[in-house]
Amino acid sequence: MTKLPPQRITLGVLGSGKGSNLAAILDAIEDGSLDIKVGLVISDNAGAGILKIACERGVPNMHIPPATSSARLDEATEERIKNEFRQAKVNLVVLAGFMKILQGPLIEAYEGRIINIHPSLLPKYPGLEAWKQALEAGETVTGCTVHHVTKEVDAGPIIAQGEVDIFPGDTPESLHSRIQRAEHILLPMVLGSFARGEVPKPQPAAA
Ligand code: GRF
Repeated sequence: MTKLPPQRITLGVLGSGKGSNLAAILDAIEDGSLDIKVGLVISDNAGAGILKIACERGVPNMHIPPATSSARLDEATEERIKNEFRQAKVNLVVLAGFMKILQGPLIEAYEGRIINIHPSLLPKYPGLEAWKQALEAGETVTGCTVHHVTKEVDAGPIIAQGEVDIFPGDTPESLHSRIQRAEHILLPMVLGSFARGEVPKPQPAAA
């Protein structure tokens, strides 16, 4: 299997929410367990915690407002994000709670080097509030997945997964916070694998 070569990673992070995964990445860099650099954090949401964390921890960051309120990010804004990442010399992009669907320009520019973290064991429970879906389905185990981003939402090739138990009496909130603790271990681990050139190149789907 072809592997992506080892490379000094300059990470671009896209997020819309509280930014706990960004904090976990920065913690791992700070404690010396992850040898990468976060080059730029971008959010579509001016009030997002992820931008506050980036500011507090001295990471370059910007708010890029979408041109429309639709679930799919408009193409011009996606182009702008792509250009900002390129200018910041970003060579790996992570979607960490980015709530807009990408159209293509960013995915195409960073093919094989754009990943997402999702709060379920994909292919089970793609989409929103995946922890709630797992709980309502009566699962006893769920987890989190890091996967390559493709144009089909939450459906790209899987890189790594972490399992999380569901206990009787779990609420959506207690389960989500247990999944997030697993994400905070899994995502820095996968980024380390990228830096060491251990992540297989995603293969094009067979015709
Ligand atoms: C995570 O649970 C991730 O799986 C999902 O969005 C959430 C982002 O959380 N895609 P945070 O903003 O990193 O705290």
